[in-house]
Amino acid sequence: MRILGIETSCDESAAAVVTDAREVLSHALYSQYAQHQAYQGVVPEVAARAHLEILPDLVARAMEEAGLSYKDLDGVAATTGPGLIGGVMVGAMVAKTICALYDLPFYAVNHLAAHALMARMTDDVPFPYLLLLLSGGHSQLLIAKGVNDFTLLGSTMDDAVGEAFDKTARVLGLGYPGGPALEAAALHGDGARFALPRPLVHRKEAHLQHTFSLSGLKTAVRRKWEELPAPTPQDCADMAASFQVAVGDILVSRLSNALRAQSQNALNINHVVLAGGVAANAYLRGRLEETVARFGMILVAPPPKLCTDNAVMVAWCGVEKSLCGPPDSLDFAPRPRWPLTELTGAK
Ligand code: KG4
Ligand code: ZN
Repeated sequence: MRILGIETSCDESAAAVVTDAREVLSHALYSQYAQHQAYQGVVPEVAARAHLEILPDLVARAMEEAGLSYKDLDGVAATTGPGLIGGVMVGAMVAKTICALYDLPFYAVNHLAAHALMARMTDDVPFPYLLLLLSGGHSQLLIAKGVNDFTLLGSTMDDAVGEAFDKTARVLGLGYPGGPALEAAALHGDGARFALPRPLVHRKEAHLQHTFSLSGLKTAVRRKWEELPAPTPQDCADMAASFQVAVGDILVSRLSNALRAQSQNALNINHVVLAGGVAANAYLRGRLEETVARFGMILVAPPPKLCTDNAVMVAWCGVEKSLCGPPDSLDFAPRPRWPLTELTGAK
């Protein structure tokens, strides 16, 4: 089975062809950094126009690289939410047009599910697994029980982790895209130099054990940064490293709480999957790997290029959906908001 996947929910335009034998036949990806650089962040209207301009070429390239014509496909999958609605509409419309022209099944892919299922393609992870999903718009701890079956344990009460990276990078003058820039700056920094808060980590209330909070940390960085009379590159590296260590502590504490609860519930979970753009961060991967190992479990994080937005995960999610239920209607309306707990279809 060969599925074309299309991703346009934020600032990455991408198309890929993936098989049910876990082969990636092609992947064409364009990051719209140049279009958004001047604004220090993603501008929805600019993103939508760029997707519209770039996507037809990317799809053609993905098909050519795979050595296929449209009639050789077994379906087309596109991200239909959640995300910036203009871009999502562009990707969904291109996918639906191909399906209508070549009489192919259409798969409406939830972007978060695509991140969540990527590790099943790369590492064949069985359900159920504990999922730490960290992207620019979402930070969630879940139990993945099936392709369309996710239980939410906790999420963020303010900023997503990726958003905190991006905002902190902007304060430190590291620009956009912030996450990778902050990680690079932190490599040369002293993570113990600045004392920064770890919100919620010491709270004992049961309902807060799996909840994230990042905004107090981000604000503390800004205050301390503004107190420095003339910040040097070393100050910047030290602040970036101190921020990253604090994020690591927050994630380790949330995940440890979930792992402790799971071992008590005896749900037979052996794997923890790390997904979303922030999962590309080598420091955080290392911290979380140690944590999971302490509980005698296995951490699976896809290769960094498949953690940040890409079309391989969308095509793979299409493969998974096609194996467990009927395709979606061409009338499926794109959704700016679409929680993982509101997927429909066979489990
Ligand atoms: O999953 P993703 O590519 O797009 C969304 O669905 O949001 O995640 C993007 C987020 C951004 O906030 C970006 O700064 C963050 O992931 N990110 C990172 C790294 N690479 C991307 N954060 C920390 N370290 C990284 N290396
Ligand atoms: Zn994403």
